Amino acid sequence: APKAIIAPSILSADFAQLGADCARTMDQGADWLHVDIMDGHFVPNITFGAPVVAKIRKHVDRPAEKHGRGTFDCHMMIAEPKKWVREFQKAGCDLYCFHYEAAFSSAAESPEAKTTDARTNPKDLVRYIHDCGLLAGVALKPMTGVDVLTELLESPDPKERPDMILIMTVEPGFGGQKFMASELPKVQALRKKYPDLNIEVDGGLGPGTIDQAADAGANVIVAGSAVFGAQDPAEVISLLRSSVEK
Ligand code: DX5
Ligand code: ZN
Repeated sequence: APKAIIAPSILSADFAQLGADCARTMDQGADWLHVDIMDGHFVPNITFGAPVVAKIRKHVDRPAEKHGRGTFDCHMMIAEPKKWVREFQKAGCDLYCFHYEAAFSSAAESPEAKTTDARTNPKDLVRYIHDCGLLAGVALKPMTGVDVLTELLESPDPKERPDMILIMTVEPGFGGQKFMASELPKVQALRKKYPDLNIEVDGGLGPGTIDQAADAGANVIVAGSAVFGAQDPAEVISLLRSSVEK
């Protein structure tokens, strides 16, 4: 399996001092920063957009290479994922992870949808993200099965293949929710078919749930409240890492 990547979710940081919180989290041993972007449409909550990402980027060193330390893993919980790729690239995003449900449903909504710029289908969107020089991720909500990903992951064209799949282990929208173990068979199925794929899990991860997720085959671990709410965040980060590496 690919290496462990621990990505604290800054949704649980203090938004009034995001830059300092991000820098400190990196010092505490984080590999990536997981940046939750919510638009109030795709999910019933709003966080922040590209201008804020551009400001916090200045507090975290750019990764020396793609997938490296300091990677900005932007989890786009937004209804129009294609529309914001360029903006986020300019702001310093490294990995743009869109929700399959958003790309798919907006493409299916109207017959002319595929030809308008803000709407697309998942394959074209992965290609577009790569063309913009970013890593591409595809996220699935709890209700969405992994079969929809086969076409992407097995595309003959590498530009259409995502660099990471995110399996949500809560309904997206809020931090601090209860982990849904019911989503782990999706992780297992992906790991069995794709030994080298980066598989991220997000929602309710912490010392009490990490072993299940790691055993299922997840290697990119998001944790918001478990890291930011800890007495000793560095200890939690290293515990998460050792669970994945054991
Ligand atoms: C939820 C977000 C998560 C959230 C996780 O919609 O995608 O990244 O911050 O928070 P915890 O780890 O507290 O469940
Ligand atoms: Zn997230």
